[in-house]
Amino acid sequence: MCGIVAIVGQTAVAPLIVDALKRLEYRGYDSAGVATIERGKLARRRAEGKLVNLEKRLNAEPLDGNIGIGHTRWATHGVPNETNAHPHFSNDVAVVHNGIIENFAELRTELTADGYEFTSQTDTEVVAHLVSRELKRGADPVAAAHAALKRLEGAFALAIMFRGDENLIVGARNGPPLAVGHGEGEMFLGSDAIALAPFTNSITYLEDGDWAVVRRDSFNIFDIEGNSVERKRQQSLSTSFMVDKGNRRHFMEKEIHEQPEVISHTLANYVDFTAGTSKPLDLPFDFAKIDRLALSACGTAYLSGLIGKYWFERIARLPVDIDIASEFRYREMPISKNSAALFISQSGETADTLASLRYCRKAGVPIGAIVNVRESTIARESDVVLPTLAGPEIGVASTKAFTCQLSVLASLAVRAGVARGTISTETERVLVRALSEAPRYANQVLKLDEQIEKVARELSHYRHVLYLGRDTNFPLAMEGALKLKEISYIHAEGYAAGELKHGPIALIDENMPVIVIAPHDRIFEKTVSNMQEVAARGGKIILITDRKGAEQASVNTMETIVLPDVPEIITPIVYALPIQMLAYFTAVFMGTDVDQPRNLAKSVTVE
Ligand code: AGP
Repeated sequence: MCGIVAIVGQTAVAPLIVDALKRLEYRGYDSAGVATIERGKLARRRAEGKLVNLEKRLNAEPLDGNIGIGHTRWATHGVPNETNAHPHFSNDVAVVHNGIIENFAELRTELTADGYEFTSQTDTEVVAHLVSRELKRGADPVAAAHAALKRLEGAFALAIMFRGDENLIVGARNGPPLAVGHGEGEMFLGSDAIALAPFTNSITYLEDGDWAVVRRDSFNIFDIEGNSVERKRQQSLSTSFMVDKGNRRHFMEKEIHEQPEVISHTLANYVDFTAGTSKPLDLPFDFAKIDRLALSACGTAYLSGLIGKYWFERIARLPVDIDIASEFRYREMPISKNSAALFISQSGETADTLASLRYCRKAGVPIGAIVNVRESTIARESDVVLPTLAGPEIGVASTKAFTCQLSVLASLAVRAGVARGTISTETERVLVRALSEAPRYANQVLKLDEQIEKVARELSHYRHVLYLGRDTNFPLAMEGALKLKEISYIHAEGYAAGELKHGPIALIDENMPVIVIAPHDRIFEKTVSNMQEVAARGGKIILITDRKGAEQASVNTMETIVLPDVPEIITPIVYALPIQMLAYFTAVFMGTDVDQPRNLAKSVTVE
């Protein structure tokens, strides 16, 4: 994920911006840059690699100027080099951006036809040229920025600076976070409060669709139609080392809402959105040559691996042996020499998972780690780290790490399919295109929060809940049950819908809500029969489906939550959000400690 900082200041801002960018280190970066207005002109320094390289550039060639923008980059479009590093310029305009401009290709074509020359492979550059073209058409800087924003589709946090106005920066947010920092006679913009902690803890978080006009002694926030909007100014608890909740009640709520951004940044590490291909990976094994893949993890991470099993076997025809790590480590599973092992862990410190990794290490198989903490023990003991780019996950209930684990596993399954020749180039392109749409659909699902909160209010009156799903929705049913039980303390179980008649149906009566996760896919009809069996026994059904599923469900439900129609491969990623939101709102109604539920810890570093 990328980091943004901007300052309309009283003194030379370049060194301040670099210090602030360092605080975004948890976001990772592959290049960085700063731009200022120096003696009336736009000037910038950029460097590939770590921030220390940018610092060296600035020491060698200092930048003056009391207004500036800065950026750390995680490449989504275009290789990580200096040319693609932000800020990007177009005539009198400088821009930094976090996110993905989904319609950048058509905008690039349109702007090229209008004579704008692109110097980078990034999607961001279209923003600079769009604003520049509006200025050329006679708009003032604020109107030019507003007109350009209305052309953008996708996820973006932006800071825009204009030569000729040294008291103006325009910020915008649609998906990735952006905060305004209030100083004394100076103002700031940053991706989060951590970045701004050295300057101020008086923060106003922009909401999706907001854009802000920031000057040294004023700031105004507007919606995309240009109507002025009010946003709460608050005291951030952030220090240089603390992540804070932003404008959310709990870390879990914040992390649920970060998913569109972090899913897109995780996917960008494994697939090339522009080329429609999965990226080659430097792995210690060859997917084309191994005959089995072992997977092991705990809890939510294990459930992401269960979904991954469907993908590896269906897309790459690669058999997968998966087990929860606490069983895996003692089962003495025979490990084929011609296999590989992947371990999935948000913290990278889970004792059982680490022990299972060491079991495989002893067996001499190559080991990969899908982790969110790159310097963790599991990462250090693996031959290759396949990072999830979820950023720090503070809530004990894992949410954004789960969907980022799924993003990595789906990308790996496509990569394995390419390596094993089980999918064509066209199929690869279709699958990568589908993956690239996951953040947008996730963003749409977040807007169902009012309906889901209403369902959660109902659910909080019950003591037992059953979740049902088929295929990749079966592990998702177990994940929904895990989320609910671990933060609301309501007993819940996730079952394969096809198993209902083999016992669990005995539980069904009017006191047992049944949550059915069932997009309209090729086995939807089978799940409809299960729902009819539940309804016939007075069970209350909450159906999570899509438009077609809602039309064809042919059963009375307590509530039907209709999600967008999504390509099959991203169903688990998109359908994870409503089950997370349902658990979250239920726990809020139950009044439990959502972020630190009783008896739990964020990382189980003991057996
Ligand atoms: C997830 O909501 C739970 N808090 C828990 O199951 C967690 O997924 C499990 O402990 C594994 O943790 P890890 O991903 O850090 O290894």
